[in-house]
Amino acid sequence: PAPGWAIEADVVVVGSGVAGLTAALCCAAAGRRTVVVTKARLDDGSTRWAQGGIAAALGEGDTPQQHLDDTLVAGAGLCDEEAVRVLVTEGPGAVRRLIGIGAEFDTSAETGEIELTREGGHRRRRIAHAGGDATGAEISRALVAAVRAQAIETVENALVLDLLTDAEGRTAGVTLHVMGEGRRDGVGAVHAPAVVLATGGMGQVFSATTNPAVSTGDGVALALRAGAEVSDLEFVQFHPTVLFLGREAEGQQPLVSEAVRGEGAHLVDADGVRFMRGRHELAELAPRDIVAKGIVRRMRELGAEHMYLDARHFGAEMWAARFPTILAACRAHGIDPVTEPIPVAPAAHYASGGVRTDLSGRTTVPGLYACGEVACTGVHGANRLASNSLLEGLVFAERIAADITARPPGRRVPVPHPTARTPLQAPETRYVIQRTMTTGAGVLRSAESLSAAAVALEALHTEASAALDRDGKTAEPCVETWEATNLLLVSRTLVAMARAREETRGCHWREDRPERDDEHGRHHLVVRLLPDRS
Ligand code: SIN
Repeated sequence: PAPGWAIEADVVVVGSGVAGLTAALCCAAAGRRTVVVTKARLDDGSTRWAQGGIAAALGEGDTPQQHLDDTLVAGAGLCDEEAVRVLVTEGPGAVRRLIGIGAEFDTSAETGEIELTREGGHRRRRIAHAGGDATGAEISRALVAAVRAQAIETVENALVLDLLTDAEGRTAGVTLHVMGEGRRDGVGAVHAPAVVLATGGMGQVFSATTNPAVSTGDGVALALRAGAEVSDLEFVQFHPTVLFLGREAEGQQPLVSEAVRGEGAHLVDADGVRFMRGRHELAELAPRDIVAKGIVRRMRELGAEHMYLDARHFGAEMWAARFPTILAACRAHGIDPVTEPIPVAPAAHYASGGVRTDLSGRTTVPGLYACGEVACTGVHGANRLASNSLLEGLVFAERIAADITARPPGRRVPVPHPTARTPLQAPETRYVIQRTMTTGAGVLRSAESLSAAAVALEALHTEASAALDRDGKTAEPCVETWEATNLLLVSRTLVAMARAREETRGCHWREDRPERDDEHGRHHLVVRLLPDRS
């Protein structure tokens, strides 16, 4: 349907995590009429689930150069060094500005300085945290409060559909499907010459993930339909230590932060053997891909469904003070980490790739920006370093706002958008996609598994396209059908990229190509769809 209502703005920010709200605050502070649209409530989304913290060279003796070095090692040869340099040098200031707007990080009782912990791949204590293990929730609280204090216009329960462009292909706004928001119900639009995509990740592509239910790849799907370049989707990071709730567990699973290992927890098998020793010099604190692989290998060797994280030695007091969220989540599932090891297994966690941007967050479509997990700035390469994601959201949101506000505001006249031509998927397709992706493109992949996934996914697409062509019929447009449609588009693209990357690198693990191939693999895979029916 055509938009039934429209809001006029200078900037529309899509998403309300750390990246989106930071961009919105900076644009509004510069006097731009800014509208934030978000799929659920302002404080929903991935940011508030972040536990471990935010990495920045804030500690004595630490330097941006050391942070850069660790980031490049984790990224397995595919980081854009210039982007990483921006991240690590602007990072400490961005964290201080976040504190300036009200975020409260944990501080040392003795020195009053920010307390720093370690996580995988970091050779120093560099991770600032809040509420022990509730860093994202505190950052979200502070940013939402600041957005409300500045009276920035927000539209909640608004699923973004497509990019609007003018006759010259420049960004002119977005269309939205809004549910239950009174006068702004149904399909509408925000007209603006600058759109900031900050829609988060796509973890819901897989059956089990640490991501909330809203992480359905909407931003990447929108960007693909709009003809923007998308890069590195094959690099899906599987977090090594996710609470294991059974092989059949589906949807969002409780994370057990890397910071638990940073504070000295051990990864052990059922016999108590610390199997990461001897696999990497940093043992449990090796980069995330290496620990995830170590766990999966040990599971295979022993025919086990999970491994254990043993932190009984922390004691009840430390557990309660330092990791209250994780303690509560484990106990809610009948596991007491104070007296027993925690069953853990890897689950999908983070998309290292996304919509390709430059150092100012600009995508390849004029006026369209991307920031946070939806973006591929180049800082993560083939495997994101732990706790670099909140930092990336902050730093690049500030850069995007600087770029937008350096240009004069203007108006662009949108031409009719392509939404009506998209064959929509029935809501239940979501589960078919998740199972297909988990089996075919999960932590371990091969040419065979990927090709089976590609066939199954193409069949879903072909069937819906044929129904549209034949009878002009498609599934009823609603949030669930759009989410399933977006999941299918990003899954098809991810699988195509994973098939094309015929090597093992970072978090892309091909069983049939177990070696890293620096001769042929040291490049980014980039996709751009012709703006037809995607
Ligand atoms: C964690 O707390 O382990 C998550 C940190 C991250 O994903 O960067």
